[in-house]
Amino acid sequence: MKNIDQAKVPRRKLYNGSEIPAIGLGTFGSDTYTAEQIAEAVVGAAGYGYRHFDCASVYGNESYIGNALSKVIKSGIDREELWITSKVWNDMHDPENVIKSCKKSLSDLQLDYLDLYLVHWPFPNFHPPGCDVDSRSPDSKPYIHGNYMNTWLAMEELLTQGLVRHIGTSNMTIPKLKLLLRDAKVKPVVNEMEIHPHFQQQELYDYLIENQIQPIGYSPLGSPSRPERDRSKQDTVDMEDPIIVSAAKKHGVHPAAVCLKWAVQRGQVTIPFSAKERQYKSNMDAVIMDPLSEDEMNDISKIDKNNRLIKGQVFLWKDNQSWEDLWDLDGQIAE
Ligand SMILES: NC(=O)c1ccc[n+]([C@@H]2O[C@H](COP(=O)([O-])OP(=O)(O)OC[C@H]3O[C@@H](n4cnc5c(N)ncnc54)[C@H](OP(=O)(O)O)[C@@H]3O)[C@@H](O)[C@H]2O)c1
Repeated sequence: MKNIDQAKVPRRKLYNGSEIPAIGLGTFGSDTYTAEQIAEAVVGAAGYGYRHFDCASVYGNESYIGNALSKVIKSGIDREELWITSKVWNDMHDPENVIKSCKKSLSDLQLDYLDLYLVHWPFPNFHPPGCDVDSRSPDSKPYIHGNYMNTWLAMEELLTQGLVRHIGTSNMTIPKLKLLLRDAKVKPVVNEMEIHPHFQQQELYDYLIENQIQPIGYSPLGSPSRPERDRSKQDTVDMEDPIIVSAAKKHGVHPAAVCLKWAVQRGQVTIPFSAKERQYKSNMDAVIMDPLSEDEMNDISKIDKNNRLIKGQVFLWKDNQSWEDLWDLDGQIAE
């Protein structure tokens, strides 16, 4: 197997000086791929040159990925070369549960530290994996900043205990981040958020950069194999956009490669998922060779359609709400 020269893999410097590989492998199988298939992809991708893996307890596959990582490390890749992220799920926001959940992920992943631990969503609302978008938990609550800060204090404690090296947020908005930055002792190093050409989130992106918080973009290809429950009629398809297709033709690559080149050249860390060898290899190739021109980058910056795919409906806490209420669109945190 061809081995990618690690010096060619782009990296992003975090505000504390650490470096994160700008491309990682997503590990959420979207109900389509089994844990075994994803674990196999982790081994194959590491063999090809991936060093960054985006995991989460809710993906239900960390123990399989743990076996894969153990193989990867035994094959001669040093643990220190890897960047492993995991996330605390919404039913584990109580401080003692944050610690418990992190220890469970460490044990499943067969690691003694995580490079990055994220609060997966700012809402503490449990829903069973795979449930329908209309499903609501009777205990659901809005974002309550005091509660989030208690969760965050436990995240800071994980740093003190040496169980994690960095902490960050996911699916946050500017109003929520403003409160967190006001009150946190340790600022998040990253915010993981949906980013693809049809959903660029420029305002939030700029806010993060201004505050030295690295954006990590999930669903960078427009999540074409996302579960049925995350699909709606008005969704657009990034990889069919004429600007993306035309750049792909010019470079002789799949439209997926154009989305990833754009992501890394714009500055976000990108975490495409693929369990298929041909795809995850070409995704890595996309970000290390043949960059887009300035004109192509400019053209793509203009095709944003504000098309959020992962709307988060299951986190709503009242009847007659719409998913927009989760995203603080008017600058206020909805109660
Ligand atoms: N923090 C969060 O709340 C959050 C939310 C969502 C996702 N994530 C993370 O982000 C990762 C990626 O997001 P995602 O899985 O939703 O979407 P994605 O990466 O945009 O899409 C993945 C799909 O794109 C297709 N694909 C991949 N490489 C391709 C290539 N070279 N050519 C053609 N098609 C290709 C594959 O479809 P087929 O399998 O059909 O071929 C694959 O299943 C997840 O795995 C997860 O780790 C985090």
